[in-house]
Amino acid sequence: MTTSAAPGAPKPENKGVARSLALYERAGQLIPGWTQLISRRASQFAHGHSPIYALSAKGSRFIDIDENEYLDWVNAVGAIILGHADEVVNAAVKEQIDRSSLFTLNSPLEIELAELLNEVIPSSEMVRYTKSGGEANALAARIARGTTGRDIILFSGYHGWHDWYQSANYLVDPQSGEFPFAGIEPIGVPEALAGTAVPFAWGDLTQLQALLDKHHGQVAAIMMEPLRSELPPAGYLEGVKKLAHDHGALLIFDEVSCGWRMHIGGVQAYLGVTPDMTVLAKAMSNGYPMGAVVGSREAMEPAKNMFISSSYWSDNIGLVATLTTIRELQRRNAPQQFEAIGEALRTALNRAITDAGLSGRCTGLSYAPAISLELPDESLRPQVHTLFIQEMAKRGIHTYMGFKATLAHTEADILETGRIATEALAVIKQGLVAGTLSDLLQSDLKKEPFRRLVR
Ligand SMILES: Cc1ncc(COP(=O)(O)O)c(C=O)c1O
Repeated sequence: MTTSAAPGAPKPENKGVARSLALYERAGQLIPGWTQLISRRASQFAHGHSPIYALSAKGSRFIDIDENEYLDWVNAVGAIILGHADEVVNAAVKEQIDRSSLFTLNSPLEIELAELLNEVIPSSEMVRYTKSGGEANALAARIARGTTGRDIILFSGYHGWHDWYQSANYLVDPQSGEFPFAGIEPIGVPEALAGTAVPFAWGDLTQLQALLDKHHGQVAAIMMEPLRSELPPAGYLEGVKKLAHDHGALLIFDEVSCGWRMHIGGVQAYLGVTPDMTVLAKAMSNGYPMGAVVGSREAMEPAKNMFISSSYWSDNIGLVATLTTIRELQRRNAPQQFEAIGEALRTALNRAITDAGLSGRCTGLSYAPAISLELPDESLRPQVHTLFIQEMAKRGIHTYMGFKATLAHTEADILETGRIATEALAVIKQGLVAGTLSDLLQSDLKKEPFRRLVR
């Protein structure tokens, strides 16, 4: 962790977010659903106080369109890993732009990156590229179905917006809040796909076994996020792999969110369980569009006979950004750094909880601690979480209850976070003691994100 970037001059007073709010109004007229990513909707933060539109970002911070500076613990929902606008990655990208972002011919960078992925990701022998995580998951589903000649995918996790996955919404009442996003229905997804993607509960081998028995001989793949915020129970992933192979199905790990921070080879390298295929995206390219499906020769090679093709999958910018990001993660000793940053942050936040007079602690993996408060009444939780985000935002920190670190976060950033979290948590304490949470809340209640099935 770097010790530079001392706090320096006191931060100017937060000017509020009037311009963000005005622009969001206009977005409502122009863009159905306001944003391109549900996690960027104002309703996911403290609407009224959280910034919604940014002007620029650098390192661990960004400037919003109201010209406030924020310390960022969201980091494009994890897509930023080295820090915003990393100079090494940007220099490589700028150099590449001058040599062209997209050739008429194929790019030799495709081979260079495939070789690097084969070197670092245990499951990787063959590689295909995409431009996003959801797209890469759709591609993995296609390859798994094509390779096995079977239709059903059992899944546990969030895997994007495509039909193959969203068809699972036909299996539940959309208003039940069960899966995956209360109030969002599978409108536009062919109902004929119902039953081709079936969710299973993470951690439960008995249920998985029952689903495999029920759909005997029809399951192409078990697709899962191997973990999100806690380590899987001992032997769980090994058990999933055995069940998959006993039933002639492929095991696919979606490492779009969990990859890279814990280990450069992903969760599979950290835990020693190698799937047949792996889906990669987000942090791998530090903010440039890129995704990949990697896997064993046996699983992947049949894809040469499948129609899987897109103009921008050879784009040099994503390729060069990914090559440079992975090399920088290696050069900067990323896993050890994340461990150190995460532990320092966890200590600072745990102290903030105690100093504010609240009960609770940080949960989550070392690189991504999350504040978990003990409350007298569970029904207060939505108010408490929104109030925390609101009070942090007013004081110049953009976060959820969970914090996603980058290598650009410094000791000074962590000190600042601890100090401001103490103030924000003290407001919550005051609201809890006096029964005035709703008076203190000046924002709309935050909507919970979609259920991801994996803890
Ligand atoms: C595990 C996982 N898979 C897939 C996706 C979808 O990736 P993208 O938003 O790049 O399409 C996400 C995004 O949050 C994710 O967390």
